[in-house]
Amino acid sequence: MLTVESLKKSYDDTAGRASGRRSDAGTRVFAVGGVDFEVHDGELFTLLGPSGCGKTTTLRSVAGLERPTEGRVTLGGRVLFDSKHGVNMRANQRGLGMVFQSYAIWPHMSVFKNVSFPLEVMPRAKRPGRKEIEDRVRQVLEVTELGAYAARAATKLSGGQQQRLALARALVTRPELMLLDEPLSNLDAKLRETMRFELKRLQRELNLTAIYVTHDQSEALVMSNRIAVMNQGRIEQIGKPREIYTKPATRFVAEFIGTSNFIEAKVVSVSGGEVQVDAAQGRLVAHGVEAAPAVGDTVLISIRPECVDLSRERRGDVPNEWSGTVLTRAFMGDVVDHIVGVGDLEVRNRSNPNLSIPPGTEVHFSVAPDKVTLVPVD
Ligand SMILES: Nc1ncnc2c1ncn2[C@@H]1O[C@H](COP(=O)(O)OP(=O)(O)O)[C@@H](O)[C@H]1O
Ligand SMILES: [Mg+2]
Repeated sequence: MLTVESLKKSYDDTAGRASGRRSDAGTRVFAVGGVDFEVHDGELFTLLGPSGCGKTTTLRSVAGLERPTEGRVTLGGRVLFDSKHGVNMRANQRGLGMVFQSYAIWPHMSVFKNVSFPLEVMPRAKRPGRKEIEDRVRQVLEVTELGAYAARAATKLSGGQQQRLALARALVTRPELMLLDEPLSNLDAKLRETMRFELKRLQRELNLTAIYVTHDQSEALVMSNRIAVMNQGRIEQIGKPREIYTKPATRFVAEFIGTSNFIEAKVVSVSGGEVQVDAAQGRLVAHGVEAAPAVGDTVLISIRPECVDLSRERRGDVPNEWSGTVLTRAFMGDVVDHIVGVGDLEVRNRSNPNLSIPPGTEVHFSVAPDKVTLVPVD
């Protein structure tokens, strides 16, 4: 297990200027402003967030390629970094495998040689014998489905194959932890999608423990066991993909992961996990609310577009039924979105493309109470 505690990193350059963000405390500027997380054995843990939020800095700090300003990092009981005790293990001592966005394969070497090289340059005491090197290379080339290309020049591989080669090269040393920084972002859209599944399969088959960095929310949702959503050098929420999506802890998370409807409302009753709120447009009831607010609190309601059940007829017997007028309709092939105006509020609905209601039509929609999420107002 990897643990990261109170990790902070500021880049103060020699000219006295600094980049990143201002800390709460004062003028010091932090690229990573104090993050805590654990990665369990066999888990693919993702750092997800917009460009510049501190994902790479966090990863490089774990790798030992960046010296954190503060914090503690341990892996399977070994202390990799501890600012209080002056511990900073060298990157090549940490036993990690790394694959980056610009996965520079060695162009003048064969596929086989690309993978065997990291073993051949190990210190003599640790270096496996020739036969074992050969066996281990063959084995990782098999799992990455490159066995047939062993003798080929690395440059004669396709983009996806080069990507797998970079992975094979990182795997061959049998790292305790893999660090992957946007490894798919240089591939075209189609290949990226295939590779998501391949990477996930490999990770599962080999029971790899990995930290995966991406700014792509669908990639994170598909691949991860757990996700940490980062914003401005901090973690806003850690959870399983489904939790992050259905129970966003903050407005930032709700907005960043997919799209959502936000409605400001006042709490009128709380009983167990059932909360009733009044918005300017009407009343809503929410079920399964974990952190219940107090009566009188102002809250933000988040409703995913696909949880808005739209119809031409009023049903009357369903909770959270509101009426409005279709303002726009957008067909996107596999789904269709209708924007419904309710007073001055615009509610987005996402449906199966069989549903198509022209703008100007009066419509009704409802939302199941367990799909009504309360987001703390920040
Ligand atoms: N070597 C560096 N020197 C100065 N500032 C840096 C350096 N690397 C990153 N930063 C700054 O730190 C912040 C976080 O960057 P980074 O960790 O690369 O974010 P991400 O990987 O999420 O896009 C950004 O504001 C970035 O400009
Ligand atoms: Mg980055």
